[in-house]
Amino acid sequence: MRHQDVDRPELEPGTFLDRYELLSVVARGGMGSVWLARLAGKHGFEKLVAVKTILPYYAADPLFRSMLLDEARIASGIVHPNVAQTIDLGEQDDVLYTVMEWMEGDSLRALLRRFEESGSTLPLGISLRVVADACAGLHAAHEVLGPDGSPAGIVHRDVSPHNILITSGGVSKLIDFGIAKARGRVAEETSPGNIKGKIGYMAPEQAIGAEVDRRADIWGLGATLYHAVAGKPAYGGENQAIALHKLLSHTPAPALDDSVPAPVRAIIAKAMAPEVEARFPTAADMGRAIDDAMRQTRLAPSHADVAAFYAEHMGDAIRKRQRAIEQGLRSAAKRHARDQQSAEESNASVADPSSSVIASSVTVDSENRNRVVFALGIAVFVAIGLIGVIGFRFGSRAREPSASTSPASASAATAATSAPAVAPSLPPSESAPLQSALPATSSGPSAAPVGSRPPRRGPSKPGPRTSKGSDQDVDDGF
Ligand SMILES: Nc1ncnc2c1ncn2[C@@H]1O[C@H](COP(=O)(O)OP(=O)(O)OP(=O)(O)O)[C@@H](O)[C@H]1O
Ligand SMILES: [Mg+2]
Repeated sequence: MRHQDVDRPELEPGTFLDRYELLSVVARGGMGSVWLARLAGKHGFEKLVAVKTILPYYAADPLFRSMLLDEARIASGIVHPNVAQTIDLGEQDDVLYTVMEWMEGDSLRALLRRFEESGSTLPLGISLRVVADACAGLHAAHEVLGPDGSPAGIVHRDVSPHNILITSGGVSKLIDFGIAKARGRVAEETSPGNIKGKIGYMAPEQAIGAEVDRRADIWGLGATLYHAVAGKPAYGGENQAIALHKLLSHTPAPALDDSVPAPVRAIIAKAMAPEVEARFPTAADMGRAIDDAMRQTRLAPSHADVAAFYAEHMGDAIRKRQRAIEQGLRSAAKRHARDQQSAEESNASVADPSSSVIASSVTVDSENRNRVVFALGIAVFVAIGLIGVIGFRFGSRAREPSASTSPASASAATAATSAPAVAPSLPPSESAPLQSALPATSSGPSAAPVGSRPPRRGPSKPGPRTSKGSDQDVDDGF
């Protein structure tokens, strides 16, 4: 495996690159992967976008990074219906990415491949309309001004069927502005014989690494039209080195079929002129020449015609992509539901760690309430009786030191030994704490006649049970 082929292994559906949630991989190109992603905002706002993540091989090169970021920043200023809008660019955890408007559709390359597989070529009118659209978008980019008002000098450098997307509405848009320039900085990309299959669309001056201007893109448009009309690239084939040699030695591309109308052949020849000065000076000029050719040949399909054609020939690909989008959104919804559920669960236990204890304690209370209340009642009752008996005995002794225990006090003492909450035979000194534990509202043991309602308990000591519950227990029990 070559290092260029290694993508970030940690990128998977559900990964967030800043505000963008990756949903599913759409394609893996030479520079990286294109993801369908979702930008989620507040109040339910969401927007589908395309996120192109750049392979680490490129992203690790500091010069590449700074150039890509610079170029993408400039490209974001291109606003035109025939250019895919660059929305954002960023970097997170070493993942470099650009964000584009999401487009329903596929590349001209994909459409051409369909026809190549069946040994036929794209209808001429469709080819002309698609390239005319690309001319319009490219011209808008070439005309972009920099912050100081002078031309920004944008050159795409990779105009090819790969980078022209035909939308399901029949409108064609250019993608990947600024990427080729940065990529050109990586040595391996510019070494002869390894130009990643783009040799078929590259102007000779660009192939030798010379300075380029917008006319290098004019060559790219001509080469794209050539491929669409001829059914194969002008330069390329299996041996890239030979193709490069032909390109640089200005060997003409194989002649087009006689069935190709003369105006169309003239346009291709002019766009692909080896001398830069002989080409169309601007993409707008080339676009006008194509419009004229469409009129002359009476082949001028509308965007609606292109849309119908595209649907007819790429219907299965459209449906496949649609299914992938739906699947991506469904999986995202499931992930979110799962995350929300586990967040709610952890919130519930983090918010009040004692809540489960309280809950179990309340359960125990209700189960044992009657038993506890009964025991407390007995204990209080016996304690009061015991205090009364002891007080009576001391009182009797004071009056009659030799008097024996009365039957009433004997039975109270017997009751005290069987009471669970009071120690048997409490000595007089130990009765004091019991008394002080009684609420202040109590009038004391002497005021509580045996058999009367015991005093209300005060707030219970801190513990899992609530004081309210304790009071209620006592009240309910009595
Ligand atoms: N903005 C977008 N919206 C929808 N699909 C897109 C978008 N951009 C790219 N794609 C899809 O991703 C595919 C691959 O694009 P990409 O530019 O990564 O590959 P490439 O042009 O073949 O290679 P490279 O540009 O890396 O040399 C396109 O053919 C298209 O199907
Ligand atoms: Mg591309």
